[in-house]
Amino acid sequence: MNSLDLIGNTPLLQLDKIPGSSGKIFAKAEYLQPGGSVKDRTALQVIRDAYESEKLRNGQVVVEMTSGNMGAGLAFVCARFGNPFVAVMPQGNSPERLRILKALGAEVILTEQVDGTPGMVTGKDIQFATDVAKEIAEKRNGFYVDQFNNPSGIKAHFTTTGPEILKNLPDIDVFVAIIGSGGTFTGTSKFLKSKNSGIKCIAVEPANAAILKTGKVEDAKHIIQGTGYGIVPPHWKKELADDIITVTDGEVRAMTKRLSLEEGLYVGYSSGANVAAALKYLQSQEAALNIATILCDSGYKYSDL
Ligand SMILES: Cc1ncc(COP(=O)(O)O)c(C=O)c1O
Repeated sequence: MNSLDLIGNTPLLQLDKIPGSSGKIFAKAEYLQPGGSVKDRTALQVIRDAYESEKLRNGQVVVEMTSGNMGAGLAFVCARFGNPFVAVMPQGNSPERLRILKALGAEVILTEQVDGTPGMVTGKDIQFATDVAKEIAEKRNGFYVDQFNNPSGIKAHFTTTGPEILKNLPDIDVFVAIIGSGGTFTGTSKFLKSKNSGIKCIAVEPANAAILKTGKVEDAKHIIQGTGYGIVPPHWKKELADDIITVTDGEVRAMTKRLSLEEGLYVGYSSGANVAAALKYLQSQEAALNIATILCDSGYKYSDL
């Protein structure tokens, strides 16, 4: 075993303090991975695939635009593979994310926010940072990860998260996941439906940035960092979504707090969003369903948690 083996095989926890009606909610503790989030799986898959396809060579610089979690995963994985890593990050992400990236040896380039505010990163902020990252990759002859378009992002969850969930919860009825790049939702849902087409897959969006549900976004500001950029991500496959549930900042804050206080799980806002959405879904159904969702990252990554 080496430190890369810390990625994946996370426990699926039953949140038995949360449901207020019949049915059960299970949550995959992705925040326990070495980079502190679900994105570690994607980072490992991307780097392995890039070596395999010879798009990445020993010692070559790796560059990515990241809101922090993909960066932490890549910093960890690149350190193991011996590739220097440059993270390009919009300023509005929490200072904790910057500190973690630097501690893991990444070179961090912060970009200005176009229309977001500290703690609230928008699609335009991301687009600007993406353009900067692409330029740097070109100038330094680096490998540009491109998490929003890289198919390894779906493969990571199709080959690991999905099978792990099904193994731990063979009688799963519903899978619920929030959309950032969409890799978690699409990869996991694709796998689960390939094994049992009756499993319902529910996507989650911030109410203020519900582009997938409503087709438009007026003001994409919300507290769920790493998700809900007000764009339709290329990994999004609408045919996999049986429903889309939106959650407000208030609902997300309340559930994130409940997870800490009632379950002892110190997790970030997207975890709160997933569990809030899972509970909403459960409460809208009469049957006693088994729902699986994702605890995406840790509360340590946020200034106000
Ligand atoms: C905190 C957090 N939650 C959820 C997600 C969503 O993951 P995905 O990109 O697989 O949709 C991300 C992605 O970066 C994230 O940082």
